[in-house]
Amino acid sequence: MSEAIINLAYLVASALFVLGLKGLAHPRTAVRGNLMGALGMLIAIVVTLFHKDIIDYKLIFTGFVIGGAIGAILAVKIQMTAMPQLVGLYNGFGGGASLLVAGAAWIETLTMAQAGDAQAMALLGNEQFSVATIASGIIGAVTFWGSLVAFGKLQGLVTEKPVRYTGEQVVKVILLVGSIVLGVMLIQTPEHITYYWYMVAVASVLGILLVMPIGGADMPVVIALLNSYSGLAAAATGFVLSNNVLIIAGSLVGASGIILTNIMCKAMNRSLLNVLFGGFGEVAEAAEEGDIYAGKIKATSPEEVAMLLETARRVVIVPGYGMAVAQAQHAVRDLFNLLESKGVTVEFAIHPVAGRMPGHMNVLLAEADIPYDKLKEMDEINPQMEQVDVAIVLGANDVVNPVARTDPNSPIAGMPIIDVDKARTVVVIKRSLSPGFAGIPNPLFALDNTLMLFGDGKKMIQEIINAIKEG
Ligand code: TAP
Repeated sequence: MSEAIINLAYLVASALFVLGLKGLAHPRTAVRGNLMGALGMLIAIVVTLFHKDIIDYKLIFTGFVIGGAIGAILAVKIQMTAMPQLVGLYNGFGGGASLLVAGAAWIETLTMAQAGDAQAMALLGNEQFSVATIASGIIGAVTFWGSLVAFGKLQGLVTEKPVRYTGEQVVKVILLVGSIVLGVMLIQTPEHITYYWYMVAVASVLGILLVMPIGGADMPVVIALLNSYSGLAAAATGFVLSNNVLIIAGSLVGASGIILTNIMCKAMNRSLLNVLFGGFGEVAEAAEEGDIYAGKIKATSPEEVAMLLETARRVVIVPGYGMAVAQAQHAVRDLFNLLESKGVTVEFAIHPVAGRMPGHMNVLLAEADIPYDKLKEMDEINPQMEQVDVAIVLGANDVVNPVARTDPNSPIAGMPIIDVDKARTVVVIKRSLSPGFAGIPNPLFALDNTLMLFGDGKKMIQEIINAIKEG
């Protein structure tokens, strides 16, 4: 296949990636966007297989079968609630693949140069090639090991608590400088490939130490950031291989990852530096629960909630992680339809970090066919909260915790929340008074206008529906 045709196909693939990303920006076009991206990737892969003269198809096919099987099994088996760590793992493998490909490219070029190939000799002295190899090795190693630690923290295999020690930042700077120095030594003596692996080893330790001091609650931000890193590593590998589509795809992943990181930091009112070096995100001890809740909790029943809803004109449902656990989204849709048929306005208030991954609530509600125009963002719904008759908090906790506004020492201080406490009546559906992800009590449960409906989210919604129908 000629170089021109290959590059044309890469251009088409890149355009499909860009259009795919644009499609992913809205739930209505997301499926089409996903397909476009996948088609772009298919074109890129097929064309690349024709690219080189010598390709070991047997090895590629073996990798394809093994990797494909693992991917398919994981995709089918994984719980929706474990999606963030799976994404983390994928990022890590992306980084690992980049560093291995860059290392292999160096070895191949070195072998050819040693056999007297003039082009390979020139490549080893080429700055773009050598700097890109070093970048791919360092960023890839940081991404791989950082992602494994992030996976371990979310999976409960590694402590969720920030692991801090004195001189932490100095150690990290030494490791970063050390890995760069080893990279420069490789450039100066290209035949010493061991420098590459030493560099990778030092960057690997850096990757582990970068993520260990970050608490479990901040892992989603870290995963988005590592996603961006995996894109940068892939782009660097694209420069190593002079592969345009890899450079473009890597840059797109790098840019979108950093945009997502920024959105998540804003949603938690944190700066990226604060997430990376602040040691926040600690799973706090559930302190003084007794004082906050003692004698102030009012439990309610599905029948009482049904009566409240029948007299309401405007209802806002705030879903959280518990809705995902209970898989209550279809029951919620039934309640939505029932209330709307009775002339009640029902909307959904979506917090950007509700659940356990970006867009978690949007995905679940879209799966249940809730119209998109009923999903309101936090900034849109908060100013109207005082006009809401009933706010139903379904399995959400941290994202409606007023402590974020009032206690500057709280682990979630400054995180913007959905102001359900300003609604006329708040109904909180959850199984107990247990805290949410941040591990802190929620004074919302003890407010005068709050009623607690204790039970599984799906069961309680179904019982409310039955009570409305019977009443
Ligand atoms: P959380 O604060 O984690 O609270 C979820 C609540 O759901 C729990 O208090 C739990 O109470 C309840 N629950 C669990 N299973 C339930 C069931 N079957 N039925 C009814 N309720 C159930 O959730 P949130 O308000 O969505 O906040 C998200 C938190 O996760 C934030 O702290 C956020 O920073 C963090 N986080 C977010 C992300 C992203 S990107 N979305 C990723 C990782 C972490 P009971 O046990 O009493 O039922």
